[in-house]
Amino acid sequence: MMAKSQSDALVIFGVTGDLAHKMIFPALYAMAKRGALKVPVIGVAFPKWSLERLHKRVTDSIERAGGVDNKRALQLLLSQLKYVSGDYQDAKTFSAIKEALGNARRPAHYLAIPPSLFETVIRGLGAAKLAEHARVIVEKPFGRDLASAQELNKVAHTVFPEDSIFRIDHYLGKEAIMNILYFRFANSFLEPIWNRNYVASVQITLSEDFGVGKRGAFYDTAGCLRDVIQNHLFQVVALLAMEPPAGRDFGAVHNEKAKVFKAMRPLGLNDLVRGQYAGYRLEPDVAKRSDVETFCALQLFIDSWRWDGVPWYLRSGKFLPDTATEILVELKPPPQKLFADAGSVTGRSNYVRFRLSPNSAVALAARVKLAGKDFVGEQRELYLSEERPGEETPYERLLGDAMAGNGALFTREDAVEAAWAVVDPVLKDHHRVRPYKRHTWGPKEADTIIAADGGWHNPSSTA
Ligand code: BG6
Repeated sequence: MMAKSQSDALVIFGVTGDLAHKMIFPALYAMAKRGALKVPVIGVAFPKWSLERLHKRVTDSIERAGGVDNKRALQLLLSQLKYVSGDYQDAKTFSAIKEALGNARRPAHYLAIPPSLFETVIRGLGAAKLAEHARVIVEKPFGRDLASAQELNKVAHTVFPEDSIFRIDHYLGKEAIMNILYFRFANSFLEPIWNRNYVASVQITLSEDFGVGKRGAFYDTAGCLRDVIQNHLFQVVALLAMEPPAGRDFGAVHNEKAKVFKAMRPLGLNDLVRGQYAGYRLEPDVAKRSDVETFCALQLFIDSWRWDGVPWYLRSGKFLPDTATEILVELKPPPQKLFADAGSVTGRSNYVRFRLSPNSAVALAARVKLAGKDFVGEQRELYLSEERPGEETPYERLLGDAMAGNGALFTREDAVEAAWAVVDPVLKDHHRVRPYKRHTWGPKEADTIIAADGGWHNPSSTA
């Protein structure tokens, strides 16, 4: 197929499900508002819904996501919609999709369905010849360990070439995360210090002040490590740790990111602390004796020339005190303590702080002298914040990119497998979860793994 041709239809498998309701319809509506929704949208699912019922569902989704502020855009979206109901095991479902596609020849198939159905649908698309000149968009989780990810890649490749597969990790579509790549390689001052000679440690916290809610059935098969660390936080690590890409094409970025995953040391039993919030086992659809973690803190090493010996600490959890995500890259202290306050200085050395959510910002912390005759100072932050409401949401951006054949913000086969290889040893071989009280920073054992590096920095939603 021509590498960059625009998809001429969007087929959404699982159109009656949660993901479509929460993320995909609002993204399509936003595209319609910008005049960027120009192709038919064919929803597919098992329930025997009327088109009218689907229309109601779409309208409800948009109302909940922020309201209908452009009736023409909503009408446009509804008028583009078709609905095919059927069983994914049944060849007739795929014939019906073909018919609904009409003259479209280059559809993008979005698998907004549970991972257990990916294989059936991919094979169904292949058998019905619906994969030719087509693209497939696959939601996370992409596999649940190394073996299942490899198997899934194998199945997908029997039907789709790698450059037609778009694996979504919505973190890659976030403004603040795209800025990591830009900030690192569009500035020259960072490169000399961005290595083991100057960086003492790197820590990332993705904190959420809510629980699993209605997602217990999914979450209890996944846990924090699979849900957000192996994918979202590892992608952030790769962007922070990668070497400069050799060129401007996105393949060059993918190559460097894949090298980071390959250089990560596989995790061992004592590299991580798993926690579970009080009352998790009473959540709907959660096993009564569940050992699934709702909190995870770990230390990681990247065995590369640049990062040898630098610890990377990652932490995430549900029901923590606040909802915010931040990275702290802490630099080593100066070699000599020259000033009067040096002995009494406690706290962190200079650092770079990337704030990823709820807003996007970068802060550089440096010590400055306080007015007076003594050489005494304090650490202050130079703060660069970027806030532009009305920007594309990650789903809108990623959907548009996939339909345009732009793979820059998606994950590549080798990188996904290499990331699984890092966590694979501890998916089964781990200590039991440690309980923690809701709205605390997880079990106290999590503090031990980072004690030597100044402790955790706790991000706040208002900072
Ligand atoms: C999802 C996880 O992928 O990412 C959720 O399944 C998590 O459990 C979410 O809450 C976090 O994403 P964001 O964009 O809200 O930070």
